[in-house]
This record gives sequence, structure tokens and C-alpha cells, in this order.
Amino acid sequence: MKVLAFESSCDETSVALVDGPRVLANVVASQIAIHQEYGGVVPEIATRQHLKNLQPVLASVFAETGLTPAEVEAVAATRGPGLPPALMIGFRAAQGFAYARRLPFLGLHHHEAHLYSSWTHGSPPESAFEEIKPSVSLIVSGGHTLLVHLQGPLNHRTLGGTIDDAAGECFDKVAKLIGLPYPGGPEVDRLAAEGDPEAYAFPRPLLKEKTDDFSFSGLKTSVRYFLEKNPSVLEQGQAIRDLCASVQAAIIEVLVTKTLRAAERLRVHSVTGSGGVVCNRGLRQSLTLACQERGIQLRLTDPQLCTDNAGMVGLLAQLHYARGDRPMVQDDDVLSTWSLDGSSG
Ligand code: KG4
Ligand code: ZN
Repeated sequence: MKVLAFESSCDETSVALVDGPRVLANVVASQIAIHQEYGGVVPEIATRQHLKNLQPVLASVFAETGLTPAEVEAVAATRGPGLPPALMIGFRAAQGFAYARRLPFLGLHHHEAHLYSSWTHGSPPESAFEEIKPSVSLIVSGGHTLLVHLQGPLNHRTLGGTIDDAAGECFDKVAKLIGLPYPGGPEVDRLAAEGDPEAYAFPRPLLKEKTDDFSFSGLKTSVRYFLEKNPSVLEQGQAIRDLCASVQAAIIEVLVTKTLRAAERLRVHSVTGSGGVVCNRGLRQSLTLACQERGIQLRLTDPQLCTDNAGMVGLLAQLHYARGDRPMVQDDDVLSTWSLDGSSG
């Protein structure tokens, strides 16, 4: 089924055309350069940029695939969670497209789209769905850190989440303290590759506790105190690389240990990782090693589908339409908060 999918929950305007497991086109207009000036996403600016970017992004999808709007069979859009004015741009455009062409429309959960993006293999467009197996799934992005027990297709239950900052937010805030541009995650990743992860000791919040919840704001605060006491670190290139490697090691140890602990407790033989932070090379490597040691199968989302994009929304739509989910009515609205557990009905 050829699904036209829209994503505009934060600062990426994206439209994709997905046919079964194949992502035929996945165009993303990033607003990073605009928000960099402010050190973070400004909702009103993000919304105006979505309005400006949507039409050219949509046109690129049809130009890239050579398909025409008349060939689209169904429509989907991110319904939430996210910034409501930003969500509304992609969601309303999708509803309008579906209404004008009398096509079925589904509003989908952003984290559910991240979650199931791990179950295709091969890089787009030559991807294929894997058989979805019981697993523990780590979803790590700028806004959320979630640990989920996946029991089967569209059957999942949240085990834990962050009680304060998300892992990506921690990367971004630490990067800001160091003076690196927004978003800081990729910058920290790049510098950490040449640093010593044992140079400085930072806390591993909630690592020892049995809970599946996460907390990262204390780690960010301890980096701030560290820099107040040791300002000269910011004057030396190698010391900055060591600092990035040490902070990244703390975040990774917490994420990997808790994910594997949950997998062992729930006796699943499969672990997945998705969301923007799963682009992190150190995290991918640590998860790979930890899963190999325990004989657990690991499915990491392809980096092209990790950060926000409509391709993952189109893939998720395939699962919903295959299950026979009823399309939405036209007056359904976006949701700024939405529990992942209530998203699949
Ligand atoms: O999934 P995503 O694109 O947006 C949200 O739904 O939030 O994730 C964005 C987050 C940002 O915090 C960004 O710094 C982080 O993902 N990120 C990374 C890397 N690439 C993106 N964090 C660490 N290492 C990376 N390579
Ligand atoms: Zn996301």
C-alpha cells in the first residue's frame, strides 16, 4: 500500500512515500541552522518554518519517486506527542490531502514510529520487515528516554521513562555548557571518538536502583559543577575530547545496563534501539557488544531512520493498515502528550 506520510512534531519537516517495507522517498527539511542561533527549538519559529517547508518537501517526494498524487492509496501523519502548533502543520496537511482525495487517514504516535523503525532491515529503499519478536526496546531522543516491552506487532507496554531530562537533552545541554553548537549530541559523539572515557568520573544516575526509570539532570549538573571548578578544561582540545568521552560513557553505561537488565528479567532474546540518540556510535557499539556477550539479538534502527523523519511514520502506518485499523475521522486533533501504551488501541 502506497502511504504518504507526514512528520512535523518538532523541528524537522518531513514527508515520505512508503510502499510496504520500502521507503521510496523520505525527504527531511531540517531547521537546525535556524534554531542554532537560539541554542534550542523555538516553537513559533519551528511552526512558521514547517509552513514554509512543507510544500517544497511534498513536491520533492513526488519528483523523487516519479509517482503522482493520484497513485497514493492512504495517508498518515504524526499526531503526537510534540509541539502542538508544529504538529498541526503536518497533521492538517495530511488530513486535507486525504479528504480531498477520499483516502483513509491515520494519526500516529511519534514514539511508536521510532519503536517499530527497528523492525525493517537493509537501508532504505531496499528495506524489508522482520518478523517482530518479543523484545525490550530502548527509545532515546531529544524529548524522551523510554524502555518498552514489545510483545508482538503493535502490542507493547512501557517499562520506564525519564523522570527529568531525556538522554538526548542531556547530550544537548552538556554540549551547550562546553560551548558546542545545537544539537549537541552529534558534536559530543564526534569529539568523544578521540577522547578518553575514563579521564573524568561522572555519576551514573539510577544505575544501581532496580527501577526501569532514568534520570539525567543530575549528570548535567555535575558537569556544570565540574566546569566551574576546572574552567581550564575548556581551553584544551584534548581535555574537551576527554570530557565529551567521559560524559558519553556515563550516559551509555546507564542506557545499556538498564536495557540489558530488563531484557534478562523479562527473558526476551531480542533488544532494539531507536530514536535520534541511537545515531551515537559509542551507544551502537556498546549495545552490540553487550548483546553479543549475552547471545541476545540486537536490532538497531538504520541511522537514516533514527532522527525524526516521515519514513518511520509511513512504515508504522503499514502495520496499522495491515491490522485493519479504522481510519480516523476528520475532526480528530493533535495531542501534545499521549501515552505510548494507549496509542495502539
Ligand atoms: O529523535 P530525534 O530526532 O528527535 C526527538 O524526537 O527528540 O532526536 C534528536 C536528539 C537530539 O537530542 C540530538 O542531540 C540527538 O538526538 N542525537 C545524538 C546523535 N545524533 C542525534 N545524540 C548523540 N549522538 C549522536 N550521534
Ligand atoms: Zn523523535
